[in-house]
Amino acid sequence: MAGLAVNVDHVATLREARKSSDPDPVAAAILAELAGADGIVVHLREDRRHIQDRDLRILRKIVQTKLILEMASTTEMIGIALDVQPEVVTLVPEKREELTTEGGLDLISNKDAIAETVGTLQDSGIPVSIFIDPDPDQIKVAHQINATMVEIHTGIFCDAKTTKKKEQAFTDIVNATKLAHKLRLGINAGHGLCYNTIKTFKGLREIDEFSIGHSIISRAVLVGMEKAVKEMSTLIKEL
Ligand code: PXP
Repeated sequence: MAGLAVNVDHVATLREARKSSDPDPVAAAILAELAGADGIVVHLREDRRHIQDRDLRILRKIVQTKLILEMASTTEMIGIALDVQPEVVTLVPEKREELTTEGGLDLISNKDAIAETVGTLQDSGIPVSIFIDPDPDQIKVAHQINATMVEIHTGIFCDAKTTKKKEQAFTDIVNATKLAHKLRLGINAGHGLCYNTIKTFKGLREIDEFSIGHSIISRAVLVGMEKAVKEMSTLIKEL
């Protein structure tokens, strides 16, 4: 059965809109865990637009399931990860001008640099996941550079506007998942998933964990964090 890792970045987005102390992503993480989340995800961005260093440090102390740090492969972030020791690091591409992560890391053009980061983090005992597009060539490079797992980018599928494009994008996800499984990589999936799109994953049992933020936090604003997490967790259990 797949797990659910809840991304609490957007609780911090709301807080940073006023540069105040509420709402606190740490409180959201506690409620998410009480509601059955299998992990808490935060993306510490270079521009600190939502999650702050203080959040990461407190989360490190209080998260009881698994703290997953999304980060760019930069010297600053590698230093923070080595210090904080999250249970997992997920390497993502990062552009200052983007609203959210726009696509997977291009491992083909950044192979050597990413391989070095993977090695450094793994040497200190941190398993490394790499966020990549559902592309067999990217999966093969993730395997070559010894990634612990991949996180398959589901955003192209979730954003597709026509049935034909949606079907093609989902076929790409299925093929990428099967290949990653064959190569014995751990498999996570995420980006853009919501309470409807998650149902498409029924039967795709190779996926170990879904990483979901925006849809859960959006629902939580209206119905509360615990209800929003429980509803998603139930849908994942039914897959
Ligand atoms: N996975 C990765 C690598 C991400 O960058 C994000 C967004 O921070 C997510 C999953 C979660 O995406 P969403 O907020 O659309 O659920």
